[in-house]
Amino acid sequence: MTAMDIDGTVRALREAKIDIFNRFERGHYPKRAHLFDLSRISRENYQRALDSKDKESYYFVAEMNGRIVGAAYGRIFGKSGFSFLHSVAVHPSKQRQGVGEKLLREVVAYSRKQGCHKISLNTLQVLIPALKLYLKLGFVPEAYLRKQWWKVDFIQMSKWLN
Ligand SMILES: CC(C)(COP(=O)(O)OP(=O)(O)OC[C@H]1O[C@@H](n2cnc3c(N)ncnc32)[C@H](O)[C@@H]1OP(=O)(O)O)[C@@H](O)C(=O)NCCC(=O)NCCS
Repeated sequence: MTAMDIDGTVRALREAKIDIFNRFERGHYPKRAHLFDLSRISRENYQRALDSKDKESYYFVAEMNGRIVGAAYGRIFGKSGFSFLHSVAVHPSKQRQGVGEKLLREVVAYSRKQGCHKISLNTLQVLIPALKLYLKLGFVPEAYLRKQWWKVDFIQMSKWLN
């Protein structure tokens, strides 16, 4: 992601977030948690992240016909070999066209290239499209995280890269 991609990224991620809340998370994930997450997807936060030149974080965007349609970002913790994917999302109008899979494959390839032995993410059990995507790329459910954030249960899914 470059500075020029920020506005498109914010738009795609915000719309994806609102869409999944309405379709999957409502009743499972508190509205205040959803609004908090939404507030974090802002131009200021992404600009700050890019300005910080933090070498551990990675940001990938997907572009289609000159527009940003999705993004994935996470962090590799020093030389530990552990990559944590914070988020992957695709604009609702561009889903089911292979974009999410390409983004996730890029994250896996990048993590491997950086010497990581493992990549993990936390997700909700109601996010069926995301769960199917993770399983397709070889992630497996590793742990059930009871009352994790906002007192909601999450699932940790992981893929070992060696
Ligand atoms: C999860 C998400 C990123 C997938 O992106 P996408 O571009 O639509 O996915 P792709 O077209 O690359 O699909 C890849 C695979 O994912 C799975 N998948 C994607 N959407 C699916 C759906 N609606 N139902 C079932 N499986 C789905 C399938 O296994 C698919 O492979 P297939 O086409 O061979 O069946 C997208 O649905 C999204 O942005 N969701 C909202 C954000 C989100 O939930 N992020 C994860 C938070 S933990």
